[in-house]
Amino acid sequence: MKAIVVTSKEVGARIKEINDAENYGEVKIRALYNGVCGTDREIVNGRRIGITMPPGKQETVLGHEALGVVEEGNDYFKKGDLVMPVNRRPCNKDINCLAGRPDFCETGEFVETGIVGADGFMREFWLDSPRFLIKVPHELEDIAILAQPLADIEKSVEEILNVQRRLIWTCNDGTLDCRKVLILGTGPIGTLFSLVLKSYQFDVWFVNRRELNTEEQTVVDTAGLNFFNSSRGYDELISKVEGFDLIIDTTGAEAEILNPTFRMLKRNGVLGLFGFPHTGIVSMHANDVQNFVLNANVIVGLVNGQKPHYQQALLHLAAWKTIWPKITSSLITRTVRIEDPDSVLNVLSKKEPGEIKVRIEWK
Ligand code: NAP
Ligand code: BGC
Ligand code: ZN
Repeated sequence: MKAIVVTSKEVGARIKEINDAENYGEVKIRALYNGVCGTDREIVNGRRIGITMPPGKQETVLGHEALGVVEEGNDYFKKGDLVMPVNRRPCNKDINCLAGRPDFCETGEFVETGIVGADGFMREFWLDSPRFLIKVPHELEDIAILAQPLADIEKSVEEILNVQRRLIWTCNDGTLDCRKVLILGTGPIGTLFSLVLKSYQFDVWFVNRRELNTEEQTVVDTAGLNFFNSSRGYDELISKVEGFDLIIDTTGAEAEILNPTFRMLKRNGVLGLFGFPHTGIVSMHANDVQNFVLNANVIVGLVNGQKPHYQQALLHLAAWKTIWPKITSSLITRTVRIEDPDSVLNVLSKKEPGEIKVRIEWK
């Protein structure tokens, strides 16, 4: 079958025929779409640490965002059902993995399909275990591919809200709408974070170091987000907003991007690290460290969503189709077909202007 692979030896991806890809269970799934994540590009361009091949292999099938259709199933996953696989899988040695939460694996021996030690889903077919599959309503087929990155974000927001249970963080009307959040990066991850937090009624500020393109502007206008261009620093924003209760970096840019964020956090505020910076050093002045302590701030690493988060993601996508149809119909900015290998390899290596989410179509 046809697959998109990366190797341990060289950067870049290749489309080739393979016959020895890993399978994980008894449900046979035919691929419909793969989403292209910033992580796929980091892997293809050799910018992500911790990427490993399946045991004994020198290459792996790429792809952790997938939507497929059941070809041969069981009593629950029936032929014709739309399904989506969970990408991180447990080591089954520690209590979190045994409880279906390898996003908090204690041993570090989990695998991630298409990322860490397991073949991914950029291939025509795979076999999977019901344990790692989510049924997707046909009504969401057009945007369901977003549920994988959105699951990572649902988990992250759940985690932030759990961290903030250390105090009373709700406002005097019981909501979170007095809380201000700064999202660095306007890619698919930054966009989905903004929409989830807006759904929770946060006051959302969206940041890039350039002006927004038309597609991004549609998201901002429709969802009622605020935008700030950070190319001239943050002084103007700080004078306007005073500070943020939550700052989330989704850029995957240079680590220095975090330096100004420490001073923008309000008391009890949280800095969430989600993107994977590929270069640079974060530096924090001693006074900033003192303030961080005095202000009871938190830095938290946010990674990977699991099955309940995919379920929550599908609910959000369904709700957004109703309240923000203009957004949901414009998030997938490009679909490239596997029969067009040049375009596929191109979208896997770089982002194009005007892009939010790109997907690869197999049907
Ligand atoms: P992306 O499409 O590359 O988006 C990155 C965004 O950040 C783009 O809007 C980019 O603008 C913007 N940006 C770059 N440098 C910036 C700067 N200096 N200041 C402000 N904005 C800047 O990638 P993505 O798919 O959204 O993924 C984002 C990151 O999250 C990646 O590192 C990815 O690996 C990571 N990720 C982590 C998890 C997890 O579980 N922790 C899950 C999924 C993804 P331009 O459009 O101008 O380039
Ligand atoms: C995936 C996550 C994964 C993370 C770390 C992301 O791109 O969407 O599910 O845990 O990378 O490898
Ligand atoms: Zn991803």
